[in-house]
Amino acid sequence: MGFRKDFVWGAATSAYQIEGAADEGGKGESIWDAFCKEPGRVRDGDSGITACDHLHRMRQDVQLMKELGIRAYRFSVSWPRLLPEGTGRVNEAGAAFYSELIDCLLDAGIEPYLTLYHWDLPLALARRGGWMNSDIVRWFGEYAGLVGERFGSRVSRFFTINEPQCFIGLGYQSGVHAPGERHSVRDTLLMAHHVLMAHGRAVQMLREKAGRDILIGLAPTCGAVYPASESPEDVEAARKVFFSIPEEGRWTWNVSWWSDPVFLGHYPEEGLRRFHDVMPDVQPEDMRLISEPLDFYGQNIYNGWCVRAGEDGTPVEVPRYPGFPRTASDWPVTPEALRWGPRFLWERYHMPLYITENGAACTDVLSLDGQVHDPQRIDFVRRYLRELRRAADDGADIRGYFYWSLLDNFEWHDGYSRRFGLVYVDYRDQRRIPKDSAFWYGDVIRSNGGCL
Ligand code: FCB
Repeated sequence: MGFRKDFVWGAATSAYQIEGAADEGGKGESIWDAFCKEPGRVRDGDSGITACDHLHRMRQDVQLMKELGIRAYRFSVSWPRLLPEGTGRVNEAGAAFYSELIDCLLDAGIEPYLTLYHWDLPLALARRGGWMNSDIVRWFGEYAGLVGERFGSRVSRFFTINEPQCFIGLGYQSGVHAPGERHSVRDTLLMAHHVLMAHGRAVQMLREKAGRDILIGLAPTCGAVYPASESPEDVEAARKVFFSIPEEGRWTWNVSWWSDPVFLGHYPEEGLRRFHDVMPDVQPEDMRLISEPLDFYGQNIYNGWCVRAGEDGTPVEVPRYPGFPRTASDWPVTPEALRWGPRFLWERYHMPLYITENGAACTDVLSLDGQVHDPQRIDFVRRYLRELRRAADDGADIRGYFYWSLLDNFEWHDGYSRRFGLVYVDYRDQRRIPKDSAFWYGDVIRSNGGCL
């Protein structure tokens, strides 16, 4: 079997991580602009002020993608670049940039996949309560409507929100990401409810303003749980843990609290029981909004962990052996995550799936020969894609894969210390040097995975 004939091979980025020009072209400030200015928040005092200078090098970056053979590009629009105050006044220079990017992509034969929200909330809206304020459902809807109106005739595929687990968990619970706040479980559950309603409203507004058929999904993240063996008991134990809700301090790190409401129309029972005394007031019409029908499911998967069935069937985590393989960001290398994650998601939600992010940070260096040799990234992606192919062979409807990331970029609170790109960026002069993995990925694409 293998990958479908029309399998989508792409690469992903996000606005704040690559654009730079953070205070140019009429852009408003985002919570990340403000966060980076606070001493001690981001490693080495780095910020996205220049990043990969993509705003000024967009044509060159699209050309590079074309040369490498990349067929689809997942990028995000910066909400405050388009709407500096978050609502109301449109920044035409910002709209012109995205419009040009889309035209360039289409000219290059690269399919745009547009994400509305990859964490750069307009600061003006954060000052009005941000995700705590229920008005954000309307604000986000207005923004989505504008994106639909301006770009919906040329872009056919959209994602509303990237990794709600991460921006709520890291931004408002542990506080290591912008805006660096620490809220109670009660607050974060309320924010999560607003995030989900904002998603639903965005789906409605995108469709209405695009005025033609477009396809929409969302892009949550997960740590995928995989079974120690193929025995039905182990598989059942892994599935159970995959869809369970962790304890309060880490509650956002799960699949079902975010995806059940969207695809099944209700919050999961386990969470409702656990959180009953801190739950927001949830109305039936909220759930109808949240479960606006979607066209596909986007899932970011970087790694996972292994579970087996204990004596009485209770799931038991299998410890990692000493010296377990890890990437340069210390994330475990667990290719099985890309087989079992998609398979479990397919069985539960029955939605066509895209892997919207997957990739590895490596200790990439510009070698004496002027090139960047990254055998570990090639090995990582090869292992993961082979497992993804097995998920397809198992019957999961896998439509595409986006490598994170096209370019080395600003890795949030780790600054520029983590290199995830297929293309090396020399931040001294913004030179782009495709790594060995970029050329290798081109071969993967041309052979539709045949060379894996
Ligand atoms: C994901 C984020 C993305 C990038 C990768 C490495 O959690 O969506 O922006 O930081 O991790």
